[in-house]
Amino acid sequence: MTKVRTKFLCQQCGFEAAKWVGRCPGCLEWNSLVEKTAAPSFPLRSDQKPVNNPQVISDVLVDSGIRYRTGSAEVDRVLGGGLVPGSLVLLSGDPGIGKSTLLLQVARWLSDQNGPVLYVTAEESVQQIALRASRLGINSNRLMVLGEADLGIVAEHIKQLNPLMVIIDSIQTVFSPELVMAPGTLGQVRESTAFLMNLAKTTQIVVWIVGHVTKDGAIAGPRVLEHMVDVVLHLDGERHHSFRILRGMKNRFGSTNESGILEMQETGLVDVTNPSEWFLTERPINAAGSVVVATLEGTRPLLVEVQALVVPGGFGQPRRSITGADYNRVSLILAVLEKRVGLNILNQDVFVNVVGGTKVIEPAADLGIALALASSFKGIPANRDLLVTGEIGLTGEIRSVGQINKRLQEAARLGFKQLIIPKGNERQVKNPAGTELIGVVTLEEALEVVFSG
Ligand SMILES: Nc1ncnc2c1ncn2[C@@H]1O[C@H](COP(=O)(O)OP(=O)(O)OP(=O)(O)O)[C@@H](O)[C@H]1O
Ligand SMILES: [Mg+2]
Repeated sequence: MTKVRTKFLCQQCGFEAAKWVGRCPGCLEWNSLVEKTAAPSFPLRSDQKPVNNPQVISDVLVDSGIRYRTGSAEVDRVLGGGLVPGSLVLLSGDPGIGKSTLLLQVARWLSDQNGPVLYVTAEESVQQIALRASRLGINSNRLMVLGEADLGIVAEHIKQLNPLMVIIDSIQTVFSPELVMAPGTLGQVRESTAFLMNLAKTTQIVVWIVGHVTKDGAIAGPRVLEHMVDVVLHLDGERHHSFRILRGMKNRFGSTNESGILEMQETGLVDVTNPSEWFLTERPINAAGSVVVATLEGTRPLLVEVQALVVPGGFGQPRRSITGADYNRVSLILAVLEKRVGLNILNQDVFVNVVGGTKVIEPAADLGIALALASSFKGIPANRDLLVTGEIGLTGEIRSVGQINKRLQEAARLGFKQLIIPKGNERQVKNPAGTELIGVVTLEEALEVVFSG
C-alpha cells in the first residue's frame, strides 16, 4: 500500500512545509498553513467498488420538495420556503447579534413539529443554553443539547439519536480529531465543514453551522466556507437597536434577493410583518432635517426616515458623522448641493442618521439624504406627507430607480401623499390613487418643489 504522507500547504502562497508552523516561512502570513494529505500520483486507484454510476439526467430521482418550516415566516422567506433536508446552512453574524437565539427558536419549532433536533454547543455550556431556552419559553422534549467540541463524538451521538436537524454552535470551536491543529484554524474549520457536509448529504439531516465574523474578514472565519455550504445567511443589525435583518448571501435552493426582518425582544426574535410602520412610529412632527425615503430591502419596499443635522462648523476640518448611510455617498451629495444647487454647505458640520439602526446603501436614497440635509440647512421642515426616491448624479441630475411601483405602493399604503420621483420613472408608474406624483429632472427642481411652498 502507498504510504500516505502528511504535509502542510500555505493557502496564500502555496509554500510547502514538512510540519505545521504558525507563520508561513514563504509569505509570513499567520495561520495560513493547512494540513494536506499527499495523494498518490496519477493514475489514481481506488480499492472501493463504484457505488454510483453515471445516469441520464432526466432519470435521476429528485425528492418531492419537502421543506421544513422554521416557525418564522421571515426566516422561511429567506430560505426560499423553508429548510431543505440534507442541506448545510451557515449562519454568520457579529458577536451577540442573536445567532444562538435564532437557532434555538428554529430548533424549538422543528422539534415540536417534525422530529428530534440536536443542538451541539462548543462555545457556551449546556446550562447557558438551557437558561436561554427557559427565557425563550422553550421546553420541547425532542430538543436535545450536547456540550461537545469533538466532532467524532458528536457523530456517535448523531448516529444514536438520528435527529432531523443538527446545530453546531459554532464552527470555530469544534474540531475534527483527525487533525492536530487547534479549533478555529483554517484547516480545522474546513475539515469540520467538509465532515458536516458529508453528514448532511448522506443522512438528509439539516445541519446548521454558526460562524463568527471577525473584523478583518478572518482567515478562519466563515468567508472561506461560503463555497462549501448550500446556504449562507447573515444576521445583521445594530447591537444597540432591537431591529435585525436576516439576509441570504447564497442559496442553492432559492433566491438570495430576499431578506427577513426581525425584532429582538425579551422572548426572542419575532417577525416584523410591517417594517415600514415599525420604522416610522416615532417620527417627529414638523422637524427640519427629517425626510422619509423609499428603499428596497431585498425585494421588499422599506420606508425609512433619514435625519440630518447641519450646523455651522468651528475652525478646521468640518465634522462629518454618518450613521446608516454610506460616507462617500453623503460626501458626494454635499458636493452636488454646494456646486450644482449653490448651497454653502461644505464648510458646515454635518450629521446624518438613518433612524432605527438600519442601513440605506442603495443610491435610491440619495435624494432623500439631499433633501434632509437641505431641510436642516435651511431650517425648513419638509411636508409631513412627503416621500422621495431617486439617485443623484454628479451633474445634479436625478436618475431613475428600480422597482418604482413597489416603492410607491408601500408609500400610498402608509398614507404618503406627495411623492417625488425621478422623471425617468414617471412613465412606468401605475399612479397610486390619492397621491400627488411629481417627477423631477434635477436636484434643484426637487428642492424647489419641497421648499418653495
Ligand atoms: N434578557 C434579555 N432580554 C432581551 N434580550 C436579551 C436578553 N438576553 C440576551 N438578549 C439579547 O440576545 C443577544 C445575545 O444573543 P445570542 O447569544 O443569541 O447572540 P449570538 O449571536 O449567538 O452571540 P455570540 O456571538 O456570543 O454567540 C443579546 O445581544 C441581547 O440582544
Ligand atoms: Mg452564540
